Amino acid sequence: MQEFVLDRTAAAIADRPQALVGNTPVMWVGAPLAAADRGFWAKLEGFNPGGMKDRPALHMVRRARERGELAPGARIIESSSGTLGLGLALAGLVHGHPVTVVTDPGLEPIVARMLAAFGARVELVARPHATGGWQQARRDRVAELLAAEPAAWCPDQYGNPDAADGYTGLATELLEQIGQVDVLVCAVGTGGHSAGVARELRRHQPRLRLIGVDTVASTIFGQPAGPRLMRGLGSSIRPANVDYAAFDEIHWVAPAEAVWACRTLAATHYATGGWSVGAVALVAGWVARRTDPGTRIVAIFPDGPHRYFDTVYNDAYCRDHGLLTGPPPLDPATMAHPAERVVGSWTRCATVVDPATASGPGTGLVTA
Ligand SMILES: Cc1ncc(COP(=O)(O)O)c(C=O)c1O
Repeated sequence: MQEFVLDRTAAAIADRPQALVGNTPVMWVGAPLAAADRGFWAKLEGFNPGGMKDRPALHMVRRARERGELAPGARIIESSSGTLGLGLALAGLVHGHPVTVVTDPGLEPIVARMLAAFGARVELVARPHATGGWQQARRDRVAELLAAEPAAWCPDQYGNPDAADGYTGLATELLEQIGQVDVLVCAVGTGGHSAGVARELRRHQPRLRLIGVDTVASTIFGQPAGPRLMRGLGSSIRPANVDYAAFDEIHWVAPAEAVWACRTLAATHYATGGWSVGAVALVAGWVARRTDPGTRIVAIFPDGPHRYFDTVYNDAYCRDHGLLTGPPPLDPATMAHPAERVVGSWTRCATVVDPATASGPGTGLVTA
């Protein structure tokens, strides 16, 4: 355990629901994910009312209203695997906008019910797009809904720069909480939080190392699209908000490895979350074990465990999907280029390329 101590002397007092967003705690995570004398700080974004994406949801809606792109009372329509949907439901409630969340059958039933309880309309797409998967199918449906309701507005979390800007406060909190961040470990889905948090931290600490965590079978960093169990991180499209130049290293993690990390975190730290939390914790623990003890490592935990009790924490589900395979290796496999081979388990690569612009082997693998 390092010597700096988090000072949480005053409990939050909220006069409005949006005042509950932000000021999330950080928690020290040591062995067995890291080691007895090494660890990392987990930023527990599950302490937000909906999750990490409450931040960009409120920010995008506020900016769109200021610019006049979102008229008073107009509908908000967005594609989401759940977390941004919850944030938009909050933002819609706060600012008086009806909200439609377009999602796919992988949405956990508890999230569908929460969205409905918070007043959002949930639209399920029936089948994936032939090459762009569920994400492209959702985005196509959003386009149809927008065409049918011209006053409606789509935040477009995949390409809207306000999504990344919405995380400035998260970076500021980290600086206040732990003073200095040497290594930041983030899951990557739309690319918003890795881009926004790293950019703000680097204004203070240009030498920050950013490690991105993706899932196997995700196209973001140049692997071919495939069926993906993990939600939140990964993509079957290439979101414009991914800041490729910002990353020093990428790790791909498989679902069974994330499940082991989630369950181990729960059993040893009473703090855990879903697929992205497990994947990020696995990688941050490895970084802690393999770097100097004084290195300050932060992992962003995007949400809490509750929506994953029928998947990650459900033995029958995990058995059916072959996810109870025990601890992953202590170290990931390494490859020199994302196009070297198709990865099926934890693998790291210190060459990061944008598959859309890379020449050479990086472009050949991507199908989305
Ligand atoms: C639970 C969870 N983890 C991680 C991510 C990835 O974050 P980002 O979209 O900022 O890359 C998301 C995105 O939706 C998410 O919902």
